[in-house]
Amino acid sequence: MSQNLTIIEHPLVQHKLTLMRREETPASSFRQLLWEISMLMTYEITRDLPLQEVTVNTPVCQTKAPLLTGKKLALVSIMRAGNGLLDGILELIPAARVGFVGLYRDEETLEPVEYYCKVPDQLEDRLVIAVDPMLATGNSSVAAISRLKKEGAKEIRLLSLVAAPEGVTCVQKVHPDIRIYTASLDERLNENGYIVPGLGDAGDRMFGTG
Ligand code: URA
Repeated sequence: MSQNLTIIEHPLVQHKLTLMRREETPASSFRQLLWEISMLMTYEITRDLPLQEVTVNTPVCQTKAPLLTGKKLALVSIMRAGNGLLDGILELIPAARVGFVGLYRDEETLEPVEYYCKVPDQLEDRLVIAVDPMLATGNSSVAAISRLKKEGAKEIRLLSLVAAPEGVTCVQKVHPDIRIYTASLDERLNENGYIVPGLGDAGDRMFGTG
């Protein structure tokens, strides 16, 4: 389970997640917290990005200082709830390209069915961060990651606010190369596929639907 799984235990992340879990938190606060927490999680998911020394002239002297180098980034939202994580990440990485994979669950087969896919070009040369706030069964994340690999992605990280052990196991089984980042590994899934204790339906919480 711990293989390729990072739980972001920073106190600010944990505090904000607790506020988001509360059922009385209104959609406006939920969105604000999601924006804040996605910035904090971005800090962690990008912790190992490579740097190169460049020469800069400060007003005082010339010096060498680090700048980001290496692969360009692509963010991919697994819709619809993934969209709620995009703004916070883009706040810190404004040059990132953004893609979308839309999936719904076929009520008969219970399998994810793709209804939309638009991703940045040259995915093979980018570090791809796929975002979905809730890693529940893992089926939609697995399908989205498979699609991104088909589009050429070679290095993918998955950012989920809350994960269920079932979802982590599912992703790790099919895509053992993927690094998963989450703020919480919750207890389990319930019979309706909701994460327990979770925070309910993330899309409904952020958009005030449901
Ligand atoms: N999707 C959600 O939004 N919440 C869950 O608990 C599970 C899946």
